[in-house]
Amino acid sequence: MRIVSGIQPTGQLHLGNYLGAIRNWVRMQDEMEQGSECLFFLADLHAISMPHSPAELHAATLEMVAALTACGIDPDRSILFNQAQVPAHAELQWLLNGTARMGWLNRMTQFKDKSGKNREGASIALFTYPVLQAADVLLYQATHVPVGEDQKQHLELARDVAQKFNNDFASEDAPVFTLPDAIIPPDAARIMSLRDGTSKMSKSDPSDMSRINLTDDADTIMQKVKKAKTDPEPLPSEVEGLAGRPEANNLVGIYATMANITPEAVLADFAGKGFGAFKPALGELLVETLGTITSRFVELKQDREELDAILAKGALKARALAGPTLNAAYDALGLVRSHH
Ligand code: TRP
Repeated sequence: MRIVSGIQPTGQLHLGNYLGAIRNWVRMQDEMEQGSECLFFLADLHAISMPHSPAELHAATLEMVAALTACGIDPDRSILFNQAQVPAHAELQWLLNGTARMGWLNRMTQFKDKSGKNREGASIALFTYPVLQAADVLLYQATHVPVGEDQKQHLELARDVAQKFNNDFASEDAPVFTLPDAIIPPDAARIMSLRDGTSKMSKSDPSDMSRINLTDDADTIMQKVKKAKTDPEPLPSEVEGLAGRPEANNLVGIYATMANITPEAVLADFAGKGFGAFKPALGELLVETLGTITSRFVELKQDREELDAILAKGALKARALAGPTLNAAYDALGLVRSHH
């Protein structure tokens, strides 16, 4: 198995980010068998497809490396890097641009969503975003690509590109690219705001009380949980009883995800109890499970030397793995290069 996945760097990381992609990556790394490999990277090249601030991108990239490491991605066991330090990503994208079809990219819903009414003003990078994403995984002969539901279509495109390239430029017994499978986590918990159970926990929410940041200390976490919006009813004994109670549903969901149990099991313990009892329990659980992560994150964030070293090491390994496939793609296309 070769697992490859990317994440766009964002700053101000919170519980929602952790329980989204990050924790899932850590699990995959920890369950990996001998001879298998995980490559996790920061999709910094993808980040320039939308208007962006260079200073923010720079800071967010480093912050994200600190977060991934603090959350348990081990740079000795996994290959952790950023695209910008592995030129093969950009190179292979160009080579794949010859294979990807306008018609395929025109059907991508993410492009339609992100360009909105202003298609003419969208960047070319936003349009070819899925081709870079295809290069990201095909470069390493990825067999499995963990992604959220929203990225399924991009993975399909990567398979189409690989298939067409193999068909057009490789012999059947020596394909250049492996067709990767998407792995969509079944229990992708949606973590909602602590102030409004109907909107996602987000770094752009003006209220800091709406989210648990990966930089929050134990007291702050306790405070935020205790002040979280709730309703006056006690907790129900069945999950059906959470319908129409978005805040209660969110807190039970967070408890369940952090404790690795089902919401039913949470309710079995807390049925009939009010939030006066549930919130301290949830706060303690969060402090206990996030404690080492947040302290390590805060420390690592400041250690530029360590972060650079992690990325340099990852890039070195990624470049070595990417080399043969990149060369094979150049050769298959008939591009003349000196003997490598
Ligand atoms: N587009 C992905 C996202 O926004 C990030 C990404 C870039 C990615 N390249 C990738 C994910 C390759 C998986 C594989 O979530």
